[in-house]
Order: sequence, then structure tokens, then C-alpha cells
Amino acid sequence: MLEQIQETAQFIQSKTNLTPTIGIILGTGLGALANELDIETTLPYASIPHFPLSTIESHSGKLLVGTLAGKPVMVMQGRFHYYEGYTMQQVTFPVRVMHALGVKTLLVSNAAGGMNPAFQTSDLMVIDDHISLLLPGNPLICPNPPVFGERFPDMCEPYRQSLIDLAFSIADELGISLKRGVYVSVTGPQLETRAEYRMLHQWGADAVGMSTVPEVIVANQLSMAVFGVSVITDLCFPDTLEKAELVKILAAAAKAEPKLTMLIREMISRL
Ligand code: HPA
Repeated sequence: MLEQIQETAQFIQSKTNLTPTIGIILGTGLGALANELDIETTLPYASIPHFPLSTIESHSGKLLVGTLAGKPVMVMQGRFHYYEGYTMQQVTFPVRVMHALGVKTLLVSNAAGGMNPAFQTSDLMVIDDHISLLLPGNPLICPNPPVFGERFPDMCEPYRQSLIDLAFSIADELGISLKRGVYVSVTGPQLETRAEYRMLHQWGADAVGMSTVPEVIVANQLSMAVFGVSVITDLCFPDTLEKAELVKILAAAAKAEPKLTMLIREMISRL
């Protein structure tokens, strides 16, 4: 895998004059931040050596390199999900490549179901911790050359507190309301049953989704500073659960996008 990471990093480097230290992974329905970007290079995932091949479900993923708020950034518009049939190593490969390219700070967004009764649709939840244990695999279960980082990486601060603090102070200034909470990742692709939502909430999770945690684990092992935010696209209260519809989920994500974009742009300008 090391050679592949190097080859992919060299390929990307050969296509851009920028050296971003900030990487961004945009979740489902949250691609609009890319419109804020002064794009220098667009690389469809299919054109990048060793990037996972699209499944039949084929999302049109792209890697963008450009500047945002004057800072060079690398943006994944679309990510790889375990439920698409990729391995955990494939899902997290782009994070390793970003790291090899010099990215030190990783900002991730996702669409998630809200289980905390204080949440409303289109809320932004800053992720302050996560639960990975329900995933059937783990991207670190593989040989561990020293450049990957520690064999037993610490997880006492998987989301960097200084970035969480920065987000809350910016939100305060800009009048954006932010929630905070614990994100639990599941594989999907089916949504959860009422019994599962009840269980996940009792276990301490505020939001549930099908992404993010594998990438965050790898980023932590690589000593990157991580900031994560979930857009609450649907409410998952077991006693009043309604059928989740993809159009409604996408509409809720779209409604939250302007505040998410403002927040991220401002954070980047101050990093
Ligand atoms: N579960 C429930 N609702 C959701 C999810 C999920 O994984 N992702 C977005 N909304």
C-alpha cells in the first residue's frame, strides 16, 4: 500500500502547483462548498491512479485542488463508503494520500440521522466524539509500517478540541446555531430500525451515519487535526419515527449548506 500511496501522491502533485495543508471531505448532499473554491485542478476519481474504482452505484467523485479564503485546500467531492463494497483500506486510502501530500488538518462533513431529542432537521452538529465499535472492520487492521503512525493510536481527542472551540466562537460571531454530540457509524445501507435507534441513543450517540469514522481513525493515527460536522438530515426518534425519504434528506442537507459553507470558509480563513 505504501508504494501506491506514494504513486498517487506524486500523480496529484504533478497536476498542481499548490501544496495544501488542509483537506476537506464533503458528504452526501454537501458538495456546494466546492462552489466557493477557486479551483486550480479538478481530478475525477477515475483518473487518479490507485483510487478505488467506482461501483455500479457510481457517484461522480472528484478531487479538487484550489484556494478557499485564500488558503490552498484539497477537497474530496464525494467519498467512498463501506456499503458500496470497498474495503476499509480503500475507503481511507485518500486520507493517506492527503497526508503524503502534506495535509495536516482534515475537515469532514456528513449527513446523519439525529437521535438527540434536542435536534431539529437541518441542524449542524459538531462531532465531539464517535463510536466506531459497531463497524465490522477497521482500516488499521493491516500491517503497520512506522510511517502510518502508532500501532495503538490514542483516541482521547479524535476531534481536535481547538478546532471545536474555533467553530463555536465563529458560530457565535456569525449567529449560526451549532449543536454538538457523538456520532456513531454503522455500515448501512439500510437505515436503522426503531429498536436500533433506541439502542444507539441509549449507548450515548446523538447522530448516526454511514461514513466518516474510518477516515477519522486513519487521520488520527497519522496525527492529523480533525474537525467533523454532521448535518442532521432526518430525525430518528423511535417513538415518532417516520419513513426517511432520500429527497427529504437531500432537501434538509441543501437547507443547511449555506451555514455549513460559511462556517467552514471562516474556519479555514483563520487556520
Ligand atoms: N441513518 C439514519 N438516518 C440517516 C443516516 C443514517 O445512517 N444518514 C443520514 N440520515
